[in-house]
Amino acid sequence: MTHGVNTTNSFESIGTILGDLREKVIESRHIDVSSLPTKEELDRQTAINAQKALSRQKQEFYSEQSLWPADTPVSFNFSDWKPDLQENSKVAREAGKKAYLLAKRLAIGEKFNVVFVGAPGVGKTSLALATLCELKKAGKGTVFVSTAELAGLYQQKREYPDILKRLAKVEDAMKHSDVLLLDDLGTEGFSTFNDFGVRTDMQQLIYRISNARFDFKSNRVRGITLTTTNNSQDQLKKMYDPKIISRLVPANKEQRVVFNGFKDVRGV
Ligand SMILES: Nc1ncnc2c1ncn2[C@@H]1O[C@H](COP(=O)(O)OP(=O)(O)O)[C@@H](O)[C@H]1O
Ligand SMILES: [Mg+2]
Repeated sequence: MTHGVNTTNSFESIGTILGDLREKVIESRHIDVSSLPTKEELDRQTAINAQKALSRQKQEFYSEQSLWPADTPVSFNFSDWKPDLQENSKVAREAGKKAYLLAKRLAIGEKFNVVFVGAPGVGKTSLALATLCELKKAGKGTVFVSTAELAGLYQQKREYPDILKRLAKVEDAMKHSDVLLLDDLGTEGFSTFNDFGVRTDMQQLIYRISNARFDFKSNRVRGITLTTTNNSQDQLKKMYDPKIISRLVPANKEQRVVFNGFKDVRGV
């Protein structure tokens, strides 16, 4: 049996050896001991790093909750944007440039919301995705939520109780992701789901999301929200509480990428 080994002594001797080694290294490399971090500083740094790792993990989890159209993840980069697909390539180039400059400002730490407004098939989701991609590259957590898919989940939640769990995770992600892309806000407003009371559910959800992503103390955006929509601000305000819309969808021209004079290029 080897139970009687005196571990305390062996640790002490290792401690002494390491201590001597430390002295030798300090001496041979002419290290200024006074500039070395103290144990408290090292502990503090370790705690900060652990906090950062946890926050990264959370953001990755939020990202995994994305609700893609037809369950198919899509990506789009600014380099994929082809202004010549539009007859009026000048306005298409300008829209791409505007989104790109906004993405760059957001990437370096500014916080504001952006809306992409226009008819179907003009490239709103593409430029919003390019912005999302830029922010992801800058280290931000991102989540994509198709409003139509979300409405679909609400519609099915009575038949499939598991969907409630899924919805809870999606809601968590929509509230706390660094960046939320809310795709096609407004399409659900004209759906036939009203009979199931889904619209009320959706309205309440969007209300909770808009509150969570807004910092009432400083009256500023807490988490960046990118919205795409076919609807005007006024139409959206009829579907949702106007307060929700003004918190999520900017009225300020500078933060609106408007696709006026664009043609539907789906399938071109
Ligand atoms: N300027 C463009 N350059 C490259 N692809 C484009 C452009 N405009 C639209 N598309 C493509 O056309 C399709 C429809 O665009 P999308 O962004 O989904 O439009 P919207 O969200 O306005 O309905 C997508 O496959 C998209 O990648
Ligand atoms: Mg779209």
